[in-house]
Amino acid sequence: MKEALQQILDEARKRLQEAECIQDAEDVRVKMLGKKGQLTGILKSMGSLTPEERKELGMQANKAKGEIEAMLNKTFEQLKEKAQEAKFKAEKIDVTEPGKAHKLGTKHPVTITIEEISKVFKSMGFTLTEGPEVETVYNNFDALNAGPNHPARDWTDTFYINDDVLLRTQTSPVQVRTLKAQKPPIRVFAPGRCFRCDTPDATHSPMFHQVEGLVVDEGITMADLKGVLDSFAKQMFGEETRTKFRPHHFPFTEPSAEMDVSCFKCGGKGCRVCKGSGWIEILGCGMVHPSVLKVGGIDTEKYTGFAFGMGVERVAMLKYGIDDIRLLYENDMRFIEQFK
Ligand code: DAH
Repeated sequence: MKEALQQILDEARKRLQEAECIQDAEDVRVKMLGKKGQLTGILKSMGSLTPEERKELGMQANKAKGEIEAMLNKTFEQLKEKAQEAKFKAEKIDVTEPGKAHKLGTKHPVTITIEEISKVFKSMGFTLTEGPEVETVYNNFDALNAGPNHPARDWTDTFYINDDVLLRTQTSPVQVRTLKAQKPPIRVFAPGRCFRCDTPDATHSPMFHQVEGLVVDEGITMADLKGVLDSFAKQMFGEETRTKFRPHHFPFTEPSAEMDVSCFKCGGKGCRVCKGSGWIEILGCGMVHPSVLKVGGIDTEKYTGFAFGMGVERVAMLKYGIDDIRLLYENDMRFIEQFK
């Protein structure tokens, strides 16, 4: 047993000297002093010895135990320090290293255009309002006088969620919401996203933006419509801009028109941007149809109004000379950065 003790002591010393991490030392502790450890085994087996033997061996075994414990404590201490040092080393910050540059983003040309359009209408006393992109079929079509057989309702043109709900195909349903929520005088504009089942090409995108406008008050006439939209065109495209209103048809306005602006590229002489005509179509507009006003419970004897809607991408493309709408959605930073 004496030899066994010596062996245990030697092995513990050797292994603790070689220990590289706390786990190595812990293994030694378990092997020697654990419940089923070698030294523990010896201490347990001492019951079978004579009292003298027990006294002597007991002393030696306890001494060995004390030595191993002392070695363990020392090793644990050293290894902990070593681990701490390694951790500090790994976490060391090199303050001389150059910083990582994070590129600043820029505003998207569609955002810039919406902000420019908004600024003009705000300056004319319009208030910003918004409606949801997921809209009822009723607000998007029926309430806007586009009856059950209107071609725009076709499922091939519209993203339907179900029979009663769709992705709005225009911002015009915001007119319906506004007429129901507010009493005249009303003077709002509503920018927002719209959706149509269009295959993407240079001038079409299934997702695009419009800005809607609505004015309702006593005595509003076509002259107000022309005055406001002509002023908008001059502020948006330059003081020298002229406007032209062509008769058109929309279900929710009567009479309806489209507004052209004189080409801001060539000034009206004819160029690539205006396709040689000198004019560029910018928006649809008209006097709000009485049946739309009635949906909002507005007294059509007392009040009249006008409305307009324009495509934001179209305005942005014309203003910035972008020839493919898809460029606006690819989010290539080299493209987007040009419009700061
Ligand atoms: N919502 C129409 C469209 O998407 C645009 C429009 C035309 C809006 C005339 C109007 C309007 O408010 O009066 O083509």
